[in-house]
Amino acid sequence: MSDWQSILCAERHKEFLEKLVAVLFDYAFESLSRDNPVSRWREPSYLEGIIDFKLQEQPRSQDRLLEVAAKILKYSVKTGHPYFMNQLFSGLDPYGLAGQWLTDSLNSSVYTYEVAPVLTLMEKTVIRKLLNMFYKEENGTIIGDGLFCPGGSFGNGIAINLARFWFRKKSENMKNIPSSNLVLFTSEDAHYSVSKWANVCDVEIVLIKTDAYGRMNVNDLRVKILSEEEKGNYSFAVSATAGTTVLGAFDPLIEISNICQEFGMWLHVDAAWGGGLIFSKRHSALLRGIQRADSILFNPHKLLAVPQQCSLLLTKHESILKDAHSKQAPYLFQKDKFYPADLDVGDKYLQCGRRPDVLKFWFMWQAKGTSGFEKHVDHLMKLSALFKEEIERRDGFELVTDSCYINVCFWFIPPSLRNRSLFCDYKKRLNEVAPKLKEKMTKRGSLMINYQPLHENPNFFRFVVQNSGLDERDIFYVFDELENLGESM
Ligand SMILES: Cc1ncc(COP(=O)(O)O)c(C=O)c1O
Repeated sequence: MSDWQSILCAERHKEFLEKLVAVLFDYAFESLSRDNPVSRWREPSYLEGIIDFKLQEQPRSQDRLLEVAAKILKYSVKTGHPYFMNQLFSGLDPYGLAGQWLTDSLNSSVYTYEVAPVLTLMEKTVIRKLLNMFYKEENGTIIGDGLFCPGGSFGNGIAINLARFWFRKKSENMKNIPSSNLVLFTSEDAHYSVSKWANVCDVEIVLIKTDAYGRMNVNDLRVKILSEEEKGNYSFAVSATAGTTVLGAFDPLIEISNICQEFGMWLHVDAAWGGGLIFSKRHSALLRGIQRADSILFNPHKLLAVPQQCSLLLTKHESILKDAHSKQAPYLFQKDKFYPADLDVGDKYLQCGRRPDVLKFWFMWQAKGTSGFEKHVDHLMKLSALFKEEIERRDGFELVTDSCYINVCFWFIPPSLRNRSLFCDYKKRLNEVAPKLKEKMTKRGSLMINYQPLHENPNFFRFVVQNSGLDERDIFYVFDELENLGESM
């Protein structure tokens, strides 16, 4: 057996894979500990010096591969480390990791029941359960349908396309309206994928003003819809956000859905970040009105810490996914199969081959129960409340705006800028603080936390957390480390 053959052979590969698993164990149990750095920042030339990136004619030995595997892990950012707070995903959940390993061993594709029987049933179960949670009907019936998506951005794109499909189907005379006369509305704080996909779908996009907390201004929405209608354009959809990327704001869904009803528009809710709150009895009120959405995007890989990627688009319209997407390729979805055709879920998707992102989510759900996800979410909300309290308690930290969710946006004011907010160059100098601190923390490997400007606000940090293994000591660590890094500024 040779290595050019894509087949496992115990004699040749068992020991190699066992050694690789040992490397992975070392990564998971040692490198992610608080005693080790969250990242080892190196210049590209250094990395090119120690990892031979070149692709060559001859194969490399297994020993070289094991060496390089260890280096890949060593010099990559440890997103499972407690001090990785840079993005809207983090952590390395043990059952999620197990689910990823199962997924990769299966190397499956969920389009037909004959190829993926277990995974098909798993997907149906998870989608039904989530439909039940998001679209609760008083009489207990479950409505709608859903898809797993290759990420939240793509899911927003599918929703825009569905909205356009639905709008054109509404009546005969809507059928031939050019896309460029169709208008989508979203807030200026919405995720950039909404604008990107409006471009891909060639529909117009109009941005709606936000208030001081980052929520869509409903009066501005109404004014702008009327203005588009006056121009002879067609307002076909609103994309609202439940948990904006930077400020963590929740758009007023009930008021927006009333407007959508009044003007005959599709309501999409991008709950990529906030959707996980549905698991918490204490905090799900933030999603009030979401059941009125025509479509909902939800990323379990964000708040619920399911490994990347795990993203779903749910819709209350029972048959729209099939109506809009189905092409019935005869080589895959034969009509004369020996089992019911509705077990072949692939035709309602935009992809053909498709990674079973459901497995790790389902596996975590089995391991934790719904109550485990609830405890996870409640713990994160507590940590975030503690972070906010600490900002108010410590000198040199200032909130950008109040928030009701995980995101805590704040400025660190270094000693040289304290009590100088009236100086004319204050904003300019404050704007330089976060990038400088970011450079210091990244080079030290002590913390990764994101910063950005927003509207007229100079650069500020955004605290977020998805790793429920953190506790209050970690919160204090973030403050101590920022003070430490910035004491001479
Ligand atoms: C509100 C919101 N929507 C959509 C997305 C895109 O999700 P993904 O990164 O899975 O493409 C993000 C990403 O951070 C987000 O914050």
